[in-house]
Amino acid sequence: MGILDIRNVNIRYTTQDGDVFAVKNANFTIEEQDAVGIVGESGSGKTTLAMAILQLLPGNAIIDGEIIYDGKNLLALSENELNKIRWDDISVVFQKSMSALSPVHKIGAQMEDVYRTHDSSISRAKLKEHVNGLLETVGLPERVYNMYAHELSGGMMQRVSIALSLLNNPKIVIFDEATTALDVVVQEKILNEILDLQEKFRLTRIMITHDISVVASTCNKVIVMYDGEILEAGDVDDVLLKPKAEYTKKLLNSYLNIV
Ligand SMILES: Nc1ncnc2c1ncn2[C@@H]1O[C@H](COP(=O)(O)OP(=O)(O)O)[C@@H](O)[C@H]1O
Ligand SMILES: [Mg+2]
Repeated sequence: MGILDIRNVNIRYTTQDGDVFAVKNANFTIEEQDAVGIVGESGSGKTTLAMAILQLLPGNAIIDGEIIYDGKNLLALSENELNKIRWDDISVVFQKSMSALSPVHKIGAQMEDVYRTHDSSISRAKLKEHVNGLLETVGLPERVYNMYAHELSGGMMQRVSIALSLLNNPKIVIFDEATTALDVVVQEKILNEILDLQEKFRLTRIMITHDISVVASTCNKVIVMYDGEILEAGDVDDVLLKPKAEYTKKLLNSYLNIV
């Protein structure tokens, strides 16, 4: 058993036009400090899977199966129990982190508020030190503490979002297309920083992306999804060098054609 076990997970959305089967019989295990890439084209069910792990699926989603974290089936926990796990144990960085940030509060104050909802006993000074330390760790200048979201570039914004995800010292961080919207130079820098962070904080990392090159350069394991199904999974070296599924070969070919 790994740090996270996904067992027979099916997720469908009910819609006016009928059900959408977004994840079909997913089974995989993630070991501690793995860096697992979940790769597949848009609509293949990647975000749905991430939301299931965080137990943040929208109301029209129906899920069955088991998601075992730390010996507990997340699907069977109460909202209270889940709130202790979200951010404290499992956190997420989205592609559009801007929308998660308040436009009217300074970055430092927001981060402190988020931290306090999970640990109210910390002193003001200690918390400020913690937040500033994290901003520095993700490569941001000190002044960001007193800045507003709209004053930040896309790259800075994603760095704030990464700092937020690390705020409560989680074990698992899910990056859902977290660098997709950035230009390639900034993306490459942040990906390198993410590698350093993983080592520093001994994170288990899930990289959700449509871009197989991100998996190749930052992951040791890979799960290939297509239309809600896991087509193949394994060590990056095995899957990328000897892909079994035709779809994986296609993903690799389109990548090789652009480099
Ligand atoms: N809230 C929702 N209601 C109905 N269908 C949805 C909802 N969210 C996602 N879907 C559908 O589920 C499938 C998987 O979507 P998603 O998990 O977002 O894929 P990905 O992240 O790989 O692009 C798609 O067909 C998408 O249209
Ligand atoms: Mg998605």
